[in-house]
Amino acid sequence: MSKVISIAIPKGGVGKTTTAVNLASCLAAAEKRTLLIDMDPSGSCSVSLGIENENINGDIFDVLNFHKSIPQVIQKTELENLDFVPSKIINYQDEERLARISNNINLLNNIFSSS
Ligand SMILES: Nc1ncnc2c1ncn2[C@@H]1O[C@H](COP(=O)(O)OP(=O)(O)O)[C@@H](O)[C@H]1O
Ligand SMILES: [Mg+2]
Repeated sequence: MSKVISIAIPKGGVGKTTTAVNLASCLAAAEKRTLLIDMDPSGSCSVSLGIENENINGDIFDVLNFHKSIPQVIQKTELENLDFVPSKIINYQDEERLARISNNINLLNNIFSSS
């Protein structure tokens, strides 16, 4: 049975990215199969994991827009048990739109439970 851990708070600079990347890495190191999903358009989890923007061919926003599925946008990481779904830097209008879409709990539930 999988568990979802959400790290979310509107305030910036409080350690969300640091916590998400470290917690996901620790779970993977403890041999738990872990999928880290970056929902922040700044894409800072990619930076922490050393994944360059030009190597990202699809991201969580493609999934939320129904252009791709979660398995299509998963990236492998250096840790065997850690997979990653990136987010890419987008423009302000897209960011606003996607913030609205991301508030749809039913949509998020459907996307994550069907993957
Ligand atoms: N526990 C901590 N102690 C000290 N500095 C921290 C800690 N967690 C994060 N930081 C630092 O705080 C800054 C903001 O962290 P970050 O994870 O990017 O925040 P957020 O994702 O909430 O914007 C970074 O420079 C990070 O290295
Ligand atoms: Mg962050």
